[in-house]
Amino acid sequence: MSGALRSFPGPLELARSAAELLAGMAERAVREVGAFRLALSGGGTPRALYTRLAEPPFASRIPWEKLEVYWGDERFVPPRHEQSNYRLAAETLLERVPVPADRVHPVPTDAATPEQAALAYTGTLRALAAEQGRSPPCFDLALLGLGSDGHTASLFPGGPECAERERWCVASIAPEGAAVRERITLTLPVLNAARCVLFLVSGIEKRKILQKVLRPALGEERRYPAQLVLPAGELLWFTDFTIDR
Ligand code: 6PG
Repeated sequence: MSGALRSFPGPLELARSAAELLAGMAERAVREVGAFRLALSGGGTPRALYTRLAEPPFASRIPWEKLEVYWGDERFVPPRHEQSNYRLAAETLLERVPVPADRVHPVPTDAATPEQAALAYTGTLRALAAEQGRSPPCFDLALLGLGSDGHTASLFPGGPECAERERWCVASIAPEGAAVRERITLTLPVLNAARCVLFLVSGIEKRKILQKVLRPALGEERRYPAQLVLPAGELLWFTDFTIDR
């Protein structure tokens, strides 16, 4: 299995434990280098975490003014669209804690095309890389979710974005049926450069795919995009259900 798996009794305990982990990481990073670089995930799962982070004790404990907030992926919709990952984080967290506006780095979905949005976001990532003297840039923590087809961020099974090893951010297309098909996503070189990747997987409906991802049959070890996230740093999976050993 790749990474450490922790199962919690329910979504609230999962959210609180993830908030505790994030807070500790933020305190350490700010002590060490004066900043905490965080890549947020989207979809529905992180809502509970973001909401929890805006509440005591985290609202007063986390050095919000020293955070730099990015997104692991975004849907190509306006920032106030109901499907926007930016909107989710803004409404549940960023509008409730004092992260300076110039330290919040949304994907520019007002670009003419997803490809141009990805190019512009690559510029944002290059600025972080230059500031850090690293290439690719290194997130202290990258939050990720898991789709029922094994996708993560907007890296979809069979998508060319999963094979991208040069560019740091690309446009991708979600499968038929997705609420928003046009996406922008960080690629594996950036995700795997993170100090820590934390997957949040909530809801018993995810049990089957998580079992396949973490307990693959022989020869299926690299079938799903989520299995390609193998950071040099720490890889953690937090769930609110159990899977077979
Ligand atoms: C997105 C996410 C995506 C998400 C998974 C799980 O933009 O949709 O980044 O990768 O994490 O699809 O989504 P849920 O949390 O809604 O199940």
